[in-house]
Amino acid sequence: MAYDKLLSPIIVGDVELSNRVLMAPLTRARTPDSVPGELQAEYYAQRANSGLIISEATNISPTARGYVYTPGIWTDAQEAGWRRVLEAVHGAGGRMALQLWHVGRISHEMVQPEGQTPVAPSALRAEGANCFVEFEDGSSGQHPTSTPRALELDEIPGLIDDYRQAAKRSKRAGFDLVEVHAANAYLLQQFLATGSNQRTDRYGGSVVNRARLLLEVVDAVTEEIGAGRVGVRLSPFIEIFGLSDDEPQEMMRYLAGELDRRKIAYLHINEPDWTGEGPQLSDDFRRDLRDRFTGTLIYCGHYTAERAETLIVNGLGDAAAFGRPYIANPDLVERFRREAVLNEPNPDTFYGGGAEGYTDYPTLD
Ligand SMILES: Cc1cc2nc3c(=O)[nH]c(=O)nc-3n(C[C@H](O)[C@H](O)[C@H](O)COP(=O)(O)O)c2cc1C
Repeated sequence: MAYDKLLSPIIVGDVELSNRVLMAPLTRARTPDSVPGELQAEYYAQRANSGLIISEATNISPTARGYVYTPGIWTDAQEAGWRRVLEAVHGAGGRMALQLWHVGRISHEMVQPEGQTPVAPSALRAEGANCFVEFEDGSSGQHPTSTPRALELDEIPGLIDDYRQAAKRSKRAGFDLVEVHAANAYLLQQFLATGSNQRTDRYGGSVVNRARLLLEVVDAVTEEIGAGRVGVRLSPFIEIFGLSDDEPQEMMRYLAGELDRRKIAYLHINEPDWTGEGPQLSDDFRRDLRDRFTGTLIYCGHYTAERAETLIVNGLGDAAAFGRPYIANPDLVERFRREAVLNEPNPDTFYGGGAEGYTDYPTLD
């Protein structure tokens, strides 16, 4: 059989997956009231053939938001909406993780409750970055981010508690795992990176200090749901949303060791080059990471079935996540199995709207 390894089952922490073709987290901005509904249940259930669906980035609190029409997990209604999605996904035989999101400085007063100033490690604007807002006339669109304010030291326990409550709700909603989103230049990566974190307290300065918030979040989430149900997404070397980092390699090595020690279920690396703005990762980097992290290692970004199979055969990773291919191919696993042609995704319908470009991509049968 082609793609023997990619299509074989795997145990990830406490959860058994039927294959290693994972669905990458994909923001689709189709929940105007931040509550997932029947449309989301249908969309995700169509993709339940994936070994693990990782949900679109989901806001942990009202202040975590930088994009309108994205879902949340801080209210009872949102939790109930996700429960409906999980019933559909589990009913179709799938497994699903919730991606926990705080955008940090990729936001604007217009998206924040009562027009608050967005928070970040330091009061440094994300140069060239846009968030997604709704204007007073009801129209929506991209808008430059505003200058954030630095989180006060005594606000950090409350922030960590938001992640903890989100994990608690995710468990009640039926998610199999959670993924802590520490990638793509959002809040947790803003703490990790030297360019966005200029704090002089215990959350800034050294690698150990810059990593502290992420590790405290992981510990809090682990206390709620157990390490075997926690994953972390990182994107070392990524250069989007004005992010810069002088020590990505050192940070990766430190985090790999710390996350390994905590025995989390998986580490998910979003490779930088898919954005067109970051360098390609080398196999030396992947080998080094493999030596340091013994849990499930997932890679994502421009993967094909061939490339994912090679990654696993060479022992550099255990699974691959597919983003744009999953938008356009609800039956991606079956297409890989039959070595069939893939549908092309339409970028015009990635964000916003309804069923078009969302639940209407054809399957083989
Ligand atoms: C429409 C769209 C939405 C995305 N939303 C998210 C997201 O919510 N969270 C996240 O971590 N990455 C997000 N990403 C990045 C993808 O998870 C993935 O890393 C990227 O698409 C590269 O994989 P691919 O080449 O297989 O598409 C998004 C990408 C796209 C194209």
